[in-house]
Amino acid sequence: MENIRKTKQIVRGMRASDGDGVQLTRIIGSPYLNVLDPFLLLDAFGSDKPQDYIGGFPPHPHRGFETVTYMMAGKMRHKDSVGNEGVIESGGIQWMSAGKGIIHSEMPEQEDGLLAGFQLWVNLPAEHKMMQPNYQEHPSSDISVESTHEGISIKVIAGNTVQGTKGIIENPFVDPTYWDVNLKQGKTLNEVLPKDHNAFVYVIEGAIIVGSEEIQGNSEKLESGQLAVLTQGENVQFTAASDSRFLLIAGRPLNEPIERAGPFVMNTKAEIQQAFHDYQSGQFA
Ligand code: FE2
Repeated sequence: MENIRKTKQIVRGMRASDGDGVQLTRIIGSPYLNVLDPFLLLDAFGSDKPQDYIGGFPPHPHRGFETVTYMMAGKMRHKDSVGNEGVIESGGIQWMSAGKGIIHSEMPEQEDGLLAGFQLWVNLPAEHKMMQPNYQEHPSSDISVESTHEGISIKVIAGNTVQGTKGIIENPFVDPTYWDVNLKQGKTLNEVLPKDHNAFVYVIEGAIIVGSEEIQGNSEKLESGQLAVLTQGENVQFTAASDSRFLLIAGRPLNEPIERAGPFVMNTKAEIQQAFHDYQSGQFA
């Protein structure tokens, strides 16, 4: 097989605290990997200690990009300033286009037990940064899981597999791929990604070989808690060194200037100043 993507960079996340004392691991958006166009941030949160998460994320604004919350355990209640409210339960996804601006809170809906998940920030192209806010929210039961081969399952949140399983999320801006993959030890997954999309893999459990061991210099081992940025190319191959679970995420790079300040991500400094002005003068919905 030609052009199998290999690892270009491997990073671990760094410990961080956000919201009201929520302990998390910042994997994209850190000094080691500031941005992977169109992805601006990836946080992993996971703890069975309520003091690590109970404070949640009290009301805060966003403008100019999308926040994607994938819950692996526990429940998160979200509420925004225009009356949208819901609970993302274990295995569920919320793809929120903040667009021109929302103010929302994200609070754990439980007082004990395990809370775990990811938040990914996906940039919006300049011409859609001021779009009307929009939500795509789905429980786990709505999301297709492809398991045509024994020991391989792909939960297809966004993007399409070679076998034709289609993700539930619609996003014409970066045509994302967002898969939650389980591979039993020794199994190999061969798949195809749009060749010019930026892609990364993050190992949640176990360890995988990224790339083909049959091609000189193509393969590298990736352990749990590590993220690999992949080179460009059409094909991807992953082999489980032990029973493994990982995220495979890709998207079309926007190749536009990025100006970010906290919860606002725009193209110019003037637009950031405008965002602060609009927020402080109560013009966010
Ligand atoms: Fe938020």
